[in-house]
Amino acid sequence: MQVKAIKTAPFKDQKPGTSGLRKKTSVFKTPGYLENFIQSIFDCMKEKRAIVLGGDGRYYNNEAIQTILKMAAANGIGKVLVGKGGILSTPAASCVIRKYGLSGGIILSASHNPGGPEGDFGVKFNIQNGGPAPEAVTEAIFRRSLEITEYKIIEGCGEIDIGKVGKSRLHQTEIEIFDPVSDYAALMEGLFDFERINGLLRSGFSMRFDAMNAVTGPYAEEIFERRLGAPSGTVINGTPLPDFGGRHPDPNLTYAKGLVDLMFSPGAPDLGAASDGDGDRNMILGKGIFVTPSDSLAVLAANADTVPGYKDGLKGVARSMPTSAAVDRVAETLHIPCYETPTGWKYFGNLLDADLVTLCGEESFGTGSIHIREKDGLWAVLFWLNILATRNKGVAEVVQGHWRRFGRNFYQRHDYEDLDQDTARLLIERLRNALPGLKNKVFNGYEIEAADEFSYEDPVEGGLITGQGIRIMLKGGARIVFRLSGTGTSGATLRIYLERYEKVPDLHIQEPKDALRGLVSAADGIARIKETLKRDEPTVIT
Ligand code: G1P
Ligand code: ZN
Repeated sequence: MQVKAIKTAPFKDQKPGTSGLRKKTSVFKTPGYLENFIQSIFDCMKEKRAIVLGGDGRYYNNEAIQTILKMAAANGIGKVLVGKGGILSTPAASCVIRKYGLSGGIILSASHNPGGPEGDFGVKFNIQNGGPAPEAVTEAIFRRSLEITEYKIIEGCGEIDIGKVGKSRLHQTEIEIFDPVSDYAALMEGLFDFERINGLLRSGFSMRFDAMNAVTGPYAEEIFERRLGAPSGTVINGTPLPDFGGRHPDPNLTYAKGLVDLMFSPGAPDLGAASDGDGDRNMILGKGIFVTPSDSLAVLAANADTVPGYKDGLKGVARSMPTSAAVDRVAETLHIPCYETPTGWKYFGNLLDADLVTLCGEESFGTGSIHIREKDGLWAVLFWLNILATRNKGVAEVVQGHWRRFGRNFYQRHDYEDLDQDTARLLIERLRNALPGLKNKVFNGYEIEAADEFSYEDPVEGGLITGQGIRIMLKGGARIVFRLSGTGTSGATLRIYLERYEKVPDLHIQEPKDALRGLVSAADGIARIKETLKRDEPTVIT
């Protein structure tokens, strides 16, 4: 067994996006590609005491883990904790980094993107606070990747067994294979009233959790079925599969259609929920009702006092810019600050570290809190269960009561996927150029009150982050946002976020598509979407 320095040449495209480096699996399998990026990470790590390593179980997970372990040992990392079988959800990784005071973590996942040889693979690097590496770190890693000439790896050591809990040594590095579920489950037990939820689940309340053949299966089975006493079968698609059973592991109205259909059928359970590839997203449904992630965040904030972990109140809340303003109204009532950040979880880290906010969330099915530094799918489901158990109400009752109190923010996101990159960029560019002249213009009856391109000054670190989406604010409180996705691996994706506030309770029961129809036409008028993209409909509406 010996440390080898292997000559390599830079790849030009290792710039991390909204959440880590995501590429087609075939790209990651190019000789040297994974190695270069991992070496760049190690080169940028100031402290190399101990890291956690694992992934969502997608195709190439285990091969990548073998390579990374051999590189970690060659790079003098003191200790590597590996989730048994290579499994580790993103929130569990964050939990473990914080609990054991690690130097960071490497999570292998392309989140909700499909897996398999034809699908996507990804590498995320988290820092000491348990959260995604901030911009300054990802930039440094990218710069390093552009000048790399060699990577270090142990050769001649054979396969490392990651299938059994236990400790071993590789060169001078300690390798510890640990149960990926127990630390996370213990953290959840400390935050929520498990006794009460147990009572609810034994009282005839029924739930269905769709793990979408991805990483949350083992976590959900342990927490819901074993610790909380839900009947077996509550968790469906609970075995992580390398190709997620051929599905997009993305919990939304399109990709979790089976669950959605069940929740809108006569025999629907009381709660339906799902999580994504790496376990950080969540979708919440009640009998005949889908709770938008923006509403979900607002409901959690308004009911946080019912949950033991948050009973002392919230310091503040934060949402990404395109997320609806539903939580802003709750913050106003609670007299706490509400921060608006660019898209991507990394921007919440500083606010949480500085104790400025307790809860945060994004419209893209991500909700989380100060308990870790990632969004957390199962945590959100447990939060809902805790609210339902203490309020003794159903999901629809809670949500409708919330609208009566705060008003309803009708909300939809329209995604146009797999677009020609130049066309998509041109559409945004044209909007940007049009911004100065948009004020007071009227589109389909909506008058523009203000329009800008969102930029953000981090209140903790300072520093301006620009170019974060085109915002069109309309009279009466409606809003349209246009931005390009930063997580895709082929072509471009245009996201259009539509929102309209409705105070009048009698009008809350409309379908979002009806309530937002006029706004959709206004958006088309403003950006000439159909004409420019030559598409009649979005690919996905959530
Ligand atoms: C998307 C979501 C964003 C989320 C990210 C990672 O990024 O919109 O909210 O943080 O995935 O899960 P986007 O593709 O829009 O850049
Ligand atoms: Zn994810």
